Amino acid sequence: MSTADSTSRDLRLVEETIRFVRRTFGTDDPVPLHVPRFSPHEKQRVNEALDSTFVSTVGEFVGRVEDQLTATTASPFAVATSSGTSALHAALRVLGVEPGDEVITQPLSFVATANAIAYQHAHPVFLDVDRETLGLSVAALREFLSRQVEPGPGGPVNTATGRRVAACIPMHTFGFPADIDAITAACREYAVPIVEDAAESLGSFVGSRHTGTIGDLGALSFNGNKVITAGAGGAILAADGALAERARHLTTTAKRPHPWESDHDDVGYNYRMPNLNAALLSAQLDRLPAFLDAKRTLAVAYRAFFQERDLTFIWERPGTRANFWLMTLRLRDRAQRDQFLTTSNARGVMMRPAWRLLSELPMYRDCISDGTPNARWLADRLVNIPSSAIDLDPAA
Ligand SMILES: Cc1ncc(COP(=O)(O)O)c(C=O)c1O
Repeated sequence: MSTADSTSRDLRLVEETIRFVRRTFGTDDPVPLHVPRFSPHEKQRVNEALDSTFVSTVGEFVGRVEDQLTATTASPFAVATSSGTSALHAALRVLGVEPGDEVITQPLSFVATANAIAYQHAHPVFLDVDRETLGLSVAALREFLSRQVEPGPGGPVNTATGRRVAACIPMHTFGFPADIDAITAACREYAVPIVEDAAESLGSFVGSRHTGTIGDLGALSFNGNKVITAGAGGAILAADGALAERARHLTTTAKRPHPWESDHDDVGYNYRMPNLNAALLSAQLDRLPAFLDAKRTLAVAYRAFFQERDLTFIWERPGTRANFWLMTLRLRDRAQRDQFLTTSNARGVMMRPAWRLLSELPMYRDCISDGTPNARWLADRLVNIPSSAIDLDPAA
């Protein structure tokens, strides 16, 4: 096919997609990528928090949210935090990451993943992702570990730099579970602790296990663009009670419990989720199953539409269940991607490319990287399309 033919075919495809999105969402107004949904249920909970006067980090809803999260994820412990970023940062600190250490992660992620490493004055090591899972590549991870990581007196050491490899942060991209069992197995062989960045994957499972519960610690986000929101908020998931306790202590300014004394025994953080945010989140958690159902219904409709047009709509892998947080097309090449982005955004149907790779950002450009060919390949092709939960329960 000539370039002119493929350009006009691409234009026709994006125009059909725009019409499909407008029909499905039932609107001629701008269609955003992802919007939160609130009902009288959320408003009532927030009012309860206001009436209680407990709007900051003390109050009944913070504990209630933690109970709801342990029930939703089957994680033995959950610690509610002020954001997903603070959850990631505190998790690294809990696992003992220190200044000068290295932390393995993927370049295809939101900037917070690498920022959390930088906050700890550690060095991100960017390894490639897998083209199918969009998450950290098991092959790239094994290649790095076997080539240059050896046991040392204080933990695994990168023999090329002499630095300790103190943790690994795989991420479940757009809510699609990474191959976390194989990643965990490789890291365990080399005694590298794991923080799962599950910021995007509340409601995503590997078999019957919730994402974020398979590594040593998991981090969730409840930012306004996620499946459910606290306005701003996050959580640390832990199977180990001592790690959870340490996370709770560090995220509450390392304050020693006492009815009136103000006594702190470490450099902690003001990272606790405020009660006002927790009130909103507790109502959203009640409605999580309805949101997930609505998103899956939308994903099924998109899948049928794109299949007919020979376009690759990313689907969950066998044995996993995705939350379909951000629904995603993998287009033919950068030219087709750019045609979709330019035309749809000009017509008020928001589409977005994957993030600029973290290893290309000015502050992380000089970090260790394995060249990340798959991440670069995907970044040229991925496009997120409108993904909000629609056709909800009557409460919506
Ligand atoms: C992969 C990933 N990690 C971390 C975060 C940080 O979460 P927050 O915005 O709640 O700080 C986000 C999203 O915002 C994310 O998408």
